[in-house]
Amino acid sequence: MKRFLTGLQPTGCLTLGNYIGAIKQMVKYQEEFDSFIFIADMHAITIPKDPEKLRKDVRDLVAIYLACGIDPNKNTIFIQSENIYHANVSWILECNTPYGQLGRMTQFKDKSQKHENFMAGLLTYPILMAADILIYDTDCVPVGKDQKQHVELARDIAESFNKRFGKDFFKVPEPLIPEEGAKIGDLLDPTKKMSKSAENPKGVILLLDSEKDIRKKIMGATTDSEMCVRYDPENKPGISNLITIYHELSGLSVKEIEEKFKDANYGTFKTAVADCVVATLNPIRQRYEELINSEELDKILDAGRDKTLEIAKKKYEELKEIVGLKR
Ligand code: AMP
Ligand code: TRP
Repeated sequence: MKRFLTGLQPTGCLTLGNYIGAIKQMVKYQEEFDSFIFIADMHAITIPKDPEKLRKDVRDLVAIYLACGIDPNKNTIFIQSENIYHANVSWILECNTPYGQLGRMTQFKDKSQKHENFMAGLLTYPILMAADILIYDTDCVPVGKDQKQHVELARDIAESFNKRFGKDFFKVPEPLIPEEGAKIGDLLDPTKKMSKSAENPKGVILLLDSEKDIRKKIMGATTDSEMCVRYDPENKPGISNLITIYHELSGLSVKEIEEKFKDANYGTFKTAVADCVVATLNPIRQRYEELINSEELDKILDAGRDKTLEIAKKKYEELKEIVGLKR
C-alpha cells in the first residue's frame, strides 16, 4: 500500500466548502493509502500566533477531522511538534539546501511582503515541510496549487542528498493532485468562494454552526427572480450553488434535483437544502462535542505520536550516521 502524508495548518473552524472540497476526498483516500495526517503546528508559528488560540485550534482540528469520518484505525494521526525528529531532520536538511532556492519560493515572497519584520522560520518553512515528508518514506503528498512548489523542493532536496551521499536514502515523493472537487460559493455572494475570511459571516456555513444558524443562513441565501430550480452557474449562481451543495451531500444528480423540484418554489427548495446540510452537519457537531474533551482524542494522538516517533527515530539515526553525526 502506498504511503500518503499530509499536514494541516490549525486555522480555526472549517467551512462547508472545506468539507465538500477537501475532507470528503480525504475520507476516500483512507481506503486506498497508508495514510499519515498530522497537524502542522510548528508551521503555524512561522507567523506569530496567540498561544491559547493555537492550543485550542490544534485540538479542535483533530476533533473535527475525526468527527468528519477520518478513521483513526485507517490513518496515523499526530501532532507535528510532539515528534522531535521533524525539527532535527529539518536542521540537517537545512544544511543541505542552497539558501538561494528558499528565497525563490512564491509563498515566502508573498508572506514576507505581507508581514513586517518576518521571522527566519518563514524562509526555512519549506525545509521543515520536506523533513515532514521525507522522514516517512512518503510516496505521495496531496497538494493544492499553493503547496506544489514546496513538494517540488522536497523532491530536489531528496535527490541532491541521495546524489551527494551516493545512496537512495530518501524516497523521492510525488505530488498527488486531487481531482478537481466542487467549489462551494458564498451564500450571499455566490460568485466568491465560501471562505472563513469572508466579510459577512452570514454567507458562510461553519462545520460547527448550530442547526438554527445553518437554517437561517441557507434561507437567506441569494437567489434570482426566475423562480425555477435550474442549474445555470452563469445566470443563476445562487440557485446553482445550492444545487451543488444538495448534490454533494445527497448524492442525487443535478438532473434528479431539477426534476424533484420542478414545481417547487425557492422557499421549499431552500428548506430541502437546509434539511440536507443539517442532516450532514448535526452528527458531525455531536461527534465533535463527544470528542473534544475526551480521553479518546488523547489516546488517538498518543498512539499516533508513539508510532511516528518509532519510525522517525530509525530514519534520523540512519541520517546522522550518513552525515557523520554519530560517534
Ligand atoms: P483553505 O481553507 O482555503 O486553505 O482550503 C483548504 C482546503 O479546502 C483546500 O483543499 C480547498 O480547495 C478546500 N476548500 C476551501 N474552501 C472551499 C470552497 N469554498 N469550496 C470547495 N473547496 C474549498
Ligand atoms: N505547508 C502546508 C500548508 O500550509 C502544511 C504542511 C506542512 C504539509 N507539512 C506538510 C502538507 C507536509 C503536506 C506535507 O498547507
